[in-house]
Amino acid sequence: MDAPTNLDALWLPFTANRQFRAAPRMLVSAKGMYYTDDQGHQVLDACAGLWCVNAGHARPRIVEAVQKAVATLDFAPSFQMGHPLAFEAANRVARLAPGNLNHVFFCNSGSEAGDSALKIALAYHRQRGDAARTKLIGRERGYHGVGFGGMSVGGIAGNRKLYGNLLGNVDHLPHTHDPARNAFSRGQPEHGAELADALERIVALHDASTIAAVIVEPLAGSTGVLPAPKGYLQRLRDICTAHGILLIFDEVITGFGRLGASFAAEKYGVVPDIMTVAKGITNGTVPMGAAIVSDTVFDAFMQGPPEAIDLPHGYTYSAHPIACAAAIATLDTYADEHLFERAAILAPYLEEAVHGLRGLPHVTDIRNEGLVAAVELEPRNAPTSRAYEVFDRAFHKGVLVRYTGDTIAFSPPLIVEKAEIDRIVETLAELIREVP
Ligand SMILES: Cc1ncc(COP(=O)(O)O)c(C=O)c1O
Repeated sequence: MDAPTNLDALWLPFTANRQFRAAPRMLVSAKGMYYTDDQGHQVLDACAGLWCVNAGHARPRIVEAVQKAVATLDFAPSFQMGHPLAFEAANRVARLAPGNLNHVFFCNSGSEAGDSALKIALAYHRQRGDAARTKLIGRERGYHGVGFGGMSVGGIAGNRKLYGNLLGNVDHLPHTHDPARNAFSRGQPEHGAELADALERIVALHDASTIAAVIVEPLAGSTGVLPAPKGYLQRLRDICTAHGILLIFDEVITGFGRLGASFAAEKYGVVPDIMTVAKGITNGTVPMGAAIVSDTVFDAFMQGPPEAIDLPHGYTYSAHPIACAAAIATLDTYADEHLFERAAILAPYLEEAVHGLRGLPHVTDIRNEGLVAAVELEPRNAPTSRAYEVFDRAFHKGVLVRYTGDTIAFSPPLIVEKAEIDRIVETLAELIREVP
């Protein structure tokens, strides 16, 4: 594929567009663990694309399933209609989900999954005659996508500040980043379970009867990889249960093997009432997301007249046949290659490797869980500039990592080899020493 000659029309998301146009990073193909850029260089994908390509790129089974689907049933409406792949994909996802999370509402992204989950939570209480429960509780530094709902419960200041008041009726838990007590933790940090008790304070302030749901990421990804402190998620679960508040886990990043288990909920043994997923559900090949809900939540919507639409919500492309085909082939690939188990087996190796960066210049914290890790750097003159420089130089050395704030993050496909983990970490070591 030739590099484009005109970069004027495209407005890239979450990008410094003028800086990018001056020195574009252009990907033209991908296979396995590697991208190829427009200069013909191989780039080791240490990010699984954008935390989504968990089985690696261009996996034949997924490619063939997508090709077959588009040639067989290119589109089917899902309002009052169905198609076989939609039911099969939902059954497969439900079977993988823990506890009684048995019902799958499909959408097209993590943002839509977040907004769908929030709407379902509000509607659930209303269906049960508890209509005063309209408050949504998120967490500082949380990321639930860019819809107005997800952005409102989200807590990354830079993503919110341009957009006015957002949704009313929202409050936030404190974030769990506590470098004074937890810097250089391996896996879940020891300290911070008590931060969940802030929910009791929020309940005391607003009264439980006004609160619909709490939404958190079990490991906050986009803000810089913050695994939940030990015991924190269970405490949130207990408080939500005690007050009749729905607990939503945003597993858009943590789902499908990233932490060495199907979902964080399974890994930590804490089951929410609603779980949002996207990204790894199709290995990134076709946009898809889902809100997976418990029997209790689902059943609340099945009480009215059978001919009445139970949830007035949905998208033209909910359960798109091509996405469903991709999801089924993706789940087959994960299962056949035991990729979630592989992630669990490789996690200690990645942990050891990344913590080897401790002591290098400007490194203030290192965090990891499963096959995701982050190295936080001391900010220099402008925030993010040091981390951006490491990211950019790494790309030119043939390794794609991510940066967010002053943190470098990486989350390779679960097919990564030990030698590739070494290369990622060695490249970071070299650049952290080199970048002033
Ligand atoms: C935890 C989490 N939720 C939601 C989203 C939004 O997903 P999407 O970009 O597919 O809308 C993301 C994206 O990175 C995410 O990390």
